[in-house]
Amino acid sequence: MKERLEALRDAAFKEIQDNIDLNELEELRVKFLGKKGEITKILRDMGKLSAEMRPVIGQMANEVRADLENKINETKEILKTKAKEQRIDSETIDITVNTKDIKRGHRHPLIQTAEELEDLFISMGFSVVTGPEIETVENNFDALNSPDNHPSRDLSDTFYINDELLLRTHTSPVQIRSMKKYGAPLRIVSAGRTFRYDDVDDTHSPMFHQLEGLVVDENISMANLIHTLDIFIKELFGDDMKTRYRPHHFPFTEPSAEVDVTCIECRGEGCPACNFTGWSMELLGCGMVHPQVLENCGIDSEKYTGFAFGMGIDRIAMVKYGIKDIRLLFENDNRFLEQF
Ligand code: PHE
Repeated sequence: MKERLEALRDAAFKEIQDNIDLNELEELRVKFLGKKGEITKILRDMGKLSAEMRPVIGQMANEVRADLENKINETKEILKTKAKEQRIDSETIDITVNTKDIKRGHRHPLIQTAEELEDLFISMGFSVVTGPEIETVENNFDALNSPDNHPSRDLSDTFYINDELLLRTHTSPVQIRSMKKYGAPLRIVSAGRTFRYDDVDDTHSPMFHQLEGLVVDENISMANLIHTLDIFIKELFGDDMKTRYRPHHFPFTEPSAEVDVTCIECRGEGCPACNFTGWSMELLGCGMVHPQVLENCGIDSEKYTGFAFGMGIDRIAMVKYGIKDIRLLFENDNRFLEQF
């Protein structure tokens, strides 16, 4: 029996030496030390021994068990450490890898322009508000004093969703929303997307962007309008810029004007970009808020007057950056966008 125990220990030790892994080690533990394992088998035969031999073999069996347990635990620790080292090796991050080729995006030139415009007006004391792209016919036309037969209401000019809702054709409905919400006095700008049933060409897109402005207070006059817009244009394009106010018609302002500014390419000399007129045309529309529009929003038109303006952000971005084709702004071609 003594020999059996010794042989068993040698066999177990030999197996452990042989490149064992953690699973195999556990199998080995069960095989030798488990309830049905080799040592238990040997101990079961103890009954056959003489009374003197029993304690001797018993003690020896315990020693072999202890030896094996120690060896197995020791080996387990070594294997675990090895596995951990291997994992650390395989998961290391190489911080010397070149990251220069990773492309980082930036704001779209249109958003940059819109934010620049907003910032200029914020510096003049305006607040920035927003309005929804899906508007009511009421806010987009009716409350803005637009007559029932106005051509812009036509199905061929406007994207209707149903009889009451449409994709806003301009940002002017934000005027209505703001006056109804905040009353007078008021000084706001609002930038956003607008939609018209236009065919795409180099200066037209069915989706474009406007910045709306509105001031309502006591004693607001055309002089305030012109002064504000002149300062704005000079801040945006430079001190040498001149403006030209051409009479125009909008249902929601009276009087109304369209504003041209000095051609940014030739600074007024005349060049192909401005058809040799010296002017960049139709950069914005503006006028004194029609008293009926104030009344429609619950503002006393005897006490308050106001001015409003709306400009094409796409047009301004194109003039500012010398972009000849509006489609470039919406095609998301990186070769174009990377230049800004
Ligand atoms: N909403 C007008 C347009 O889209 C522009 C405008 C705004 C004119 C405010 C006057 C006052 O053409």
